[in-house]
Amino acid sequence: MHGLVRAPRRIGPGRLVKMRDLGCDELGSLLTRGREIHLGQPAHAFQGALATVFYENSTRTRNSFQQAASRLGMTTLQVGREGSSIQKGETLEDTLLTLRALGAVAAAVRTPEPGALDEVPDVGMALVNAGDGWRQHPTQTLADLLAVTLAGRRIEGARLLIVGDILHSRVARSAVDGFGMLGAEVALAGPPTLVPRGLAESFGVEAVPFAEGLAWADIVMVLRLQKERMERGYLPSLREYRQRWGLTAERLRQLRDDVLVLHPGPQNRGVELDDEVIRDRRSLIHAQIACGVSMRTALLEAMLDAR
Ligand code: CP
Repeated sequence: MHGLVRAPRRIGPGRLVKMRDLGCDELGSLLTRGREIHLGQPAHAFQGALATVFYENSTRTRNSFQQAASRLGMTTLQVGREGSSIQKGETLEDTLLTLRALGAVAAAVRTPEPGALDEVPDVGMALVNAGDGWRQHPTQTLADLLAVTLAGRRIEGARLLIVGDILHSRVARSAVDGFGMLGAEVALAGPPTLVPRGLAESFGVEAVPFAEGLAWADIVMVLRLQKERMERGYLPSLREYRQRWGLTAERLRQLRDDVLVLHPGPQNRGVELDDEVIRDRRSLIHAQIACGVSMRTALLEAMLDAR
């Protein structure tokens, strides 16, 4: 599928916080298994519950973890910021220990704080970072990699342009790592306030002018403006952002016929992309969501098999 050797399907040491917690062989193996599951192979069955601990909003990630748990024969326990004992001062560690006592054998955790899971010691269950602030969102990248390979493309040698709010994007950081691990070339584009000097270099990639990047890329990943993480005004206006940095219908028409378009969602239509992009046959936006279920199933299966 992508030229990598198959490896045993075991993810250790029971925690996926960032893409680089996986070796290239583990990543290749997970993609192979995710593809099998996506194409209808049954997943292994497990006793116990998956806890979804989401201290930030989510539609795709939380629901796809719940779907993954269902495919694995597991129940789910759900904790959000509102209505949970975090409001009474309970720590993440104590919440996870509580969920383990309630039968959880794995947890998917989303927090606004970068690195929140780094502070949590071993709590006796598999832990998956479902997005921690601006830092990492590894299971989004797993979904994106599967969507691209299912579209018949090799990751190795592919040219990925990521455009938009790179500064605040955990998706961008995980994508740079994950696509890079499998041999893709990655470049970034966006306004200087959101792709400040030195950021691309710190990721080990290049920042390029948008038009140049669009002409170069095989895959264009469009990102949402993360307004919830912006501490000041980074843009003159959304209208100007769309004009200068949006994947508009006009720019879409100029893209090569074989370029794939990714967006992790949620999309802000009419800002970073136009309606036509979502409908276009080159868009993998809905495939990414479906692949998220398969890859989260494969990931949890590998982590639980490895216990
Ligand atoms: N892509 C993503 O993480 O979407 P949600 O915020 O809806 O989970």
